[in-house]
Amino acid sequence: MTPAKPLRKDGDDRQNPYQNWGDVVRAAAGVLAAAGVRSPRVDAELLLAHVLDRDLSELRRALVLGEPVGEGERAAYDRLVEQRAARVPLQHLTGVAHFRRLSLRVGPGVFVPRPETEVLVDLALADLRAAGEAPVVVDLCTGSGAIALAVADEWPEARVHAVELSEDAHAWAAANVARSGLRVDLRLGDATTAFEDLLGQVDVVVSNPPYIPPGSVPVDPEVRDHDPEVALYGLGEDGLQVPLAVAARAAELLVPGGVLLMEHADVQGEELVRRLTATGNWTEVTDHADLTGLPRVTRAVRGGR
Ligand SMILES: C[S@@+](CC[C@H](N)C(=O)[O-])C[C@H]1O[C@@H](n2cnc3c(N)ncnc32)[C@H](O)[C@@H]1O
Repeated sequence: MTPAKPLRKDGDDRQNPYQNWGDVVRAAAGVLAAAGVRSPRVDAELLLAHVLDRDLSELRRALVLGEPVGEGERAAYDRLVEQRAARVPLQHLTGVAHFRRLSLRVGPGVFVPRPETEVLVDLALADLRAAGEAPVVVDLCTGSGAIALAVADEWPEARVHAVELSEDAHAWAAANVARSGLRVDLRLGDATTAFEDLLGQVDVVVSNPPYIPPGSVPVDPEVRDHDPEVALYGLGEDGLQVPLAVAARAAELLVPGGVLLMEHADVQGEELVRRLTATGNWTEVTDHADLTGLPRVTRAVRGGR
């Protein structure tokens, strides 16, 4: 990894101090770019917005107006930029990940929800429209609670349940459920055996399980070094061992005609469709692209109606 350049060179700064936040942010964006951060300017702005407790549009106005730098805030900002240059995820530094309409608390020990997962929520809402009153939804492998909370937020009639294996991630999800004021029955446990009390009663199962094959270690340090391993690797040669075990549990939970929506890696779409079809549990197994056009979510209807 390219070592991060210090934001201020010793000595230089006192002789030639940055006068305003605009200059500081420009320098920080340069440091982040040199460290390989993908969106250096936006990250530099978001970190400052966090330090100054402003939203992004307020911050950008302040930058244009040349707002002067406060010393204490500057020190706090420099520390965050240094950590971001060391490729600590932005969301761990601000403590927040945005998902659908929600701002979720995240940090070490929990998977940071990704924008590509939002399409799974769109597909779930489409199936919930077709389900009856007060449909039952289960989120297997809930992490921060992102999918379960988004469904509860956008389909308030749904009775939403969620399960997570990792105690650390479960604690983040519990905090998110409590802060949101939304109704989600959150449990700690193994998705492949969870919800004995809901067998054959669930209308929609949503899941973004771990699915990365063991040999495909992620390149980005933010993912490789900061997302928990249990959140990333799907086990088995192709990473599909956990997803298929989760799908088998979904088949036991769903009513006949109920729907499973499962995220997968872009290279796993065809194989997951083939393997689910081969179980004989599912009809209408189809695959759906994310917003970038990559295969991302498999939808399968529980047979046996
Ligand atoms: C890829 S992350 C997804 C988290 C969340 N659903 C999201 O989309 O942001 C997978 C999650 O599954 C959890 N997990 C892994 N194996 C599990 C299992 N057998 N039962 C329940 N949760 C599991 C991990 O701890 C992690 O939180």
